[in-house]
Amino acid sequence: MFMEKQQNQAIRINMGRLRADIERFAEIGRREDGGIYRMAFSPEDWEAREALVDALKQAELKGEMDDAGNVVGKMQVAPAGPGVIVGSHLDSVPAGGPLDGTLGVLSGLECLRRIHEAGVKTKRPVELIAFSDEEGRFGSMFGSRAIAGEINPDTLRTMVDLSGVSLTDAMTERGLEPFKALQARRNPDSVHAFIELHIEQGPILDRIGKSLGVVEAITGLFKWSIRLKGEADHAGTTPMPMRRDAFAGLAEFAGEIPRVLEEHGAGNSVATVGRVELRPGTANTVPSLAEFTLDVRDENAEVLAALADAFRTALSAIARRRGLMFEFDILSEVTPVRCDERIASAISEAARELGVEPHMMPSGAAHDAQIMARIAPPGMIFVPSVGGRSHSPAEWTHWEDIEVGANVLLQTILKLAQSD
Ligand code: HGY
Ligand code: MN
Ligand code: MN
Repeated sequence: MFMEKQQNQAIRINMGRLRADIERFAEIGRREDGGIYRMAFSPEDWEAREALVDALKQAELKGEMDDAGNVVGKMQVAPAGPGVIVGSHLDSVPAGGPLDGTLGVLSGLECLRRIHEAGVKTKRPVELIAFSDEEGRFGSMFGSRAIAGEINPDTLRTMVDLSGVSLTDAMTERGLEPFKALQARRNPDSVHAFIELHIEQGPILDRIGKSLGVVEAITGLFKWSIRLKGEADHAGTTPMPMRRDAFAGLAEFAGEIPRVLEEHGAGNSVATVGRVELRPGTANTVPSLAEFTLDVRDENAEVLAALADAFRTALSAIARRRGLMFEFDILSEVTPVRCDERIASAISEAARELGVEPHMMPSGAAHDAQIMARIAPPGMIFVPSVGGRSHSPAEWTHWEDIEVGANVLLQTILKLAQSD
């Protein structure tokens, strides 16, 4: 027993192979601006998923896709009982970076390869999942929601992306039968733990010079699509007081955001208007429609609820004052989650055994781990983002930090998979 533990602790990832995988996947969906465009259910997303299935098979592992488009990797032979799932995502935001999600998936692949190559017989099954649509083309975290049993026929029937493409069409185009996604659900009793390695996507680790973060809590969020409706009028002949200008309503709302955060938010509440469309969209017509997104985050559910009320109140007051109509759709709501302390200590122990001092911290980004928390205790490992940059071609993590993160992931998986 002791010998086996010693042997396991000596296993390391093959960094040359992981680096080659990261470099190869970084070319899938890359465009001239250097950004990666692997929108969920796009041909580029599927190219990456198929490349992952191939890599699993080449490593003598099982690689297949479930009915929600999640790629699942397993050992050929696995023990019975609740398993350890390691996962993240391969889809990206438009002009995204090479590591957001992809690092966790490829590091998980490397961990399964090393466990297989080293002939380690784990007590618990170990599984890799590359979730579909983490970035929220259709709401957010579709693949992990399907696994957690959080989607329903109405979700499947009604979900459309911001360009009006339906989820069912996008899935059908990739050869999936949309309503079969309901079968991707896992029995919570079949999962012992979920662990995700991810880039921090913020400046903390980079600033304090730490190479490894252990996530204590993951932020909650709500994401709305808002429409302010006014009246199209001539830009030259319509006196200002007579206008029902949808853009002016949006501009006033944007000016209200700092006040609402100040009065109803907590220390690190954030709000972002990331996409705006004006109609009819000509220079010489007063806009009749301003359609925009609002993404609001905080790690406290009550604060989020208070912010939702305050933003709704601000919008209706502006609409009333300006003779506008306002309506909004909830694109996504994700509750804040605390990570599992047992897993956090397994990560910290693995880090210290590798001579690395872990840094306990929150996550300002949302992750599949907080959806998987519905069916299993979650743990997250962060590696530094250079300059805190992410969701941008400038996203990067130094190779030595990637190697530390992937080895801590491997050792954490082994600890969880050998535990009673
Ligand atoms: O939005 C997020 O926090 C994640 O990148 N999907
Ligand atoms: Mn991500
Ligand atoms: Mn992301």
